[in-house]
Amino acid sequence: MDTVATTDFIHLYEPGSDTSRAPLLLLHGTGGDERDLLGLGQAVAPGASLLSPRGKVLEGAMPRFFRRLSEGVFDEDDLRGRTHELADFVEQARVRYGLAAPVAVGFSNGANIAASLLLLRPQVLAGAALLRAMSPFANPPQANLAGKRVLILSGAMDPIIPADDAQRLARTLSGNGATVDHRVLPAGHGLSQPDIGLLKGWLASA
Ligand code: MLT
Repeated sequence: MDTVATTDFIHLYEPGSDTSRAPLLLLHGTGGDERDLLGLGQAVAPGASLLSPRGKVLEGAMPRFFRRLSEGVFDEDDLRGRTHELADFVEQARVRYGLAAPVAVGFSNGANIAASLLLLRPQVLAGAALLRAMSPFANPPQANLAGKRVLILSGAMDPIIPADDAQRLARTLSGNGATVDHRVLPAGHGLSQPDIGLLKGWLASA
């Protein structure tokens, strides 16, 4: 039997019962862990395989996927390195678990690294749902995102993410060829019931 070397991310893997569904890569927000989005994944994509890693950066006791200098100001060198590390993990997990390219479902910090994955390692993802995301890079790199579907769900009253920042992310991704559906909901930074319904419908329409 071949040995598969896996990059060391603590993670949960839940095999799905419906092979017609794309697997989901669940990426939690600051202070979350690999269990956080499992219930969401089960609710929005019943039967899909779920791969859920825990971010390796600690801010105090709070796991994250990359370092930030202050709220909304990212350490872009760390972000680039962590993005490649996460992409390598996903590629190895696909071999280990026999998975198709996943659709990322990321919340907040997890959405920001999912956006970075799209820009730096687009081949790793089939698409992405970015929940309360912002632009990960001041000067985003070019990427070929033709054929990638992206859903961005923003909160009109989000105190953490300025509205124009999420719009800039949507423009960056669509400018690189992604099919972007950006909705702004009457919500704050937390997820609301309409988020769940829109996400479920978008995943089902793939
Ligand atoms: C980030 O650091 O990724 C964003 O500020 C969102 C957050 O995690 O608070």
